[in-house]
Amino acid sequence: MKPKHIKDQALIIFGASGDLTHRKLIPAIFDLYRQKSLPQNFAVLGVARSPYTDDSFREKMKDGIRQFATAKDISDEELNTFSQKLHYLSINTDDGKDYVKVKERLEQLDKEENTAGNYIFYLSTPPALYPLVPKFLAQQGLNKEEGYFRRIIIEKPFGTDLKSAISLNASLREDYKEDQIYRIDHYLGKETVQNMLVTRFANGIYEPLWNRNYIHHVEITAAESIGVENRGSYYDHSGALRDMLQNHLLQLVALVAMEPPMAIESEAIRNEKLKVFQALRPMSDEDVFKNVIRGQYTAANIKGKYAKGYREEKDVDKDSRTETYIAMKLFIDNWRWGDVPFYIRTGKRLPTRVSEVVIHFKPAPQRLFHETTDLRNDDNQLVIRIQPDEGILLKTRMKVPGSGYQVKTVNMDFHYSQLQDTYLPEAYERLLLDCMTGDSTLYIRGDALEATWKFVQPLIDFWEKNPDAPLHGYPAGTWGPENADDLIEEKNLTWRYPCKNLSDDGIYCEL
Ligand code: BG6
Repeated sequence: MKPKHIKDQALIIFGASGDLTHRKLIPAIFDLYRQKSLPQNFAVLGVARSPYTDDSFREKMKDGIRQFATAKDISDEELNTFSQKLHYLSINTDDGKDYVKVKERLEQLDKEENTAGNYIFYLSTPPALYPLVPKFLAQQGLNKEEGYFRRIIIEKPFGTDLKSAISLNASLREDYKEDQIYRIDHYLGKETVQNMLVTRFANGIYEPLWNRNYIHHVEITAAESIGVENRGSYYDHSGALRDMLQNHLLQLVALVAMEPPMAIESEAIRNEKLKVFQALRPMSDEDVFKNVIRGQYTAANIKGKYAKGYREEKDVDKDSRTETYIAMKLFIDNWRWGDVPFYIRTGKRLPTRVSEVVIHFKPAPQRLFHETTDLRNDDNQLVIRIQPDEGILLKTRMKVPGSGYQVKTVNMDFHYSQLQDTYLPEAYERLLLDCMTGDSTLYIRGDALEATWKFVQPLIDFWEKNPDAPLHGYPAGTWGPENADDLIEEKNLTWRYPCKNLSDDGIYCEL
């Protein structure tokens, strides 16, 4: 359905010949078109160095839509009609003088397609261009909002450390107001991530328990089974800390930990998230040493097939010490969370692709049924499954039928797949549509972005100063370094070992 206040507009994608445009952005735009969510008058202008024509660009995008759009049963006719909205301009993107061509082409599109001078500039370019493209656009006056809007969307990585993030923010703010800048974190576009706000704040039963009095610890996992694929040259300079933890994992931490906002409104929500980042307990060198575990995958046989080690991957240094796995214990020093450990981990080449948040509740204060008094892996847990098999699961204790009082843990679970005819939009679909309507709730504000870098900077510094700090190998296809369980304070507890299916866990599951 078309949002009420959506204006006619053009989306200009810089880096349009790249993978993201073909795999994610254009398929998402097509899905929005399918659902009649696009504005009445709408055009896409792809901009990059590669010498495509409108026609050859359209052909490539059609191919991307067929492969990657959520929509199925796409007819040639539908695809042809849609592709008329796609245009292409080849320029030298790092040459400021070439941006006059962008301006002229947009003026022409405004006339032909009635896009009304409203533009979203999407930067899907190498990060080195992030400060340049917005500057070159501003030199052409394309940042000015005079009766129309001008917004820029910036992909991650937004900086590579605190200093570069501050400097990129400062450079953007010279020409753009904060409400024109949309910093993307595609995790926030995921339906299940947004549902965390609803789970917490639309139910009366969770919030009273959602604090240090009842929660023993929180566990957040974003596991991937794939390796670095063909992104070695980027990843080897990034590693799991910058690629996943600084952004996706800390965003999840904020949504679990934030206070209720005054309203479901961009600034109210983003203010509360910022407070969480500001309350993260800073890490000393000793904390980094004790509370962070890094790993790198090594070669292994997975189901009889050879899986490369990280150092054998294309464009990766043969002696690389880049982490492909990171696990961390952190604390949020505020009234709600005082001394509750948050364990977060992410890694490549783990046994399965799964992202989830697990709230571990404290055990019943009296163990009436002759149970041990230790906290156990099967105590009450609320599992919020982000992907796959999206859903929510509560582990609760019940009596085993029969004589006596034997207790076991059972699952109460809801899976999104149980909803009939419900369409789960892709993250990029939701995020693009939000930017089109001017809703920045699911984008990262500049101050929050800097606060997350501030938190991870001591790790970057520590590893730079101590290049020989431990980096543990783990065979591809396993749950990371063996000592990752040592992070967890209680001796009987381990990380949850989730399976593809939300209701299963344990080390031995079908992957
Ligand atoms: C990206 C990272 O931000 O997120 C990738 O750069 C990672 O390395 C991806 O694979 C994971 O996203 P998702 O949506 O598949 O969990």
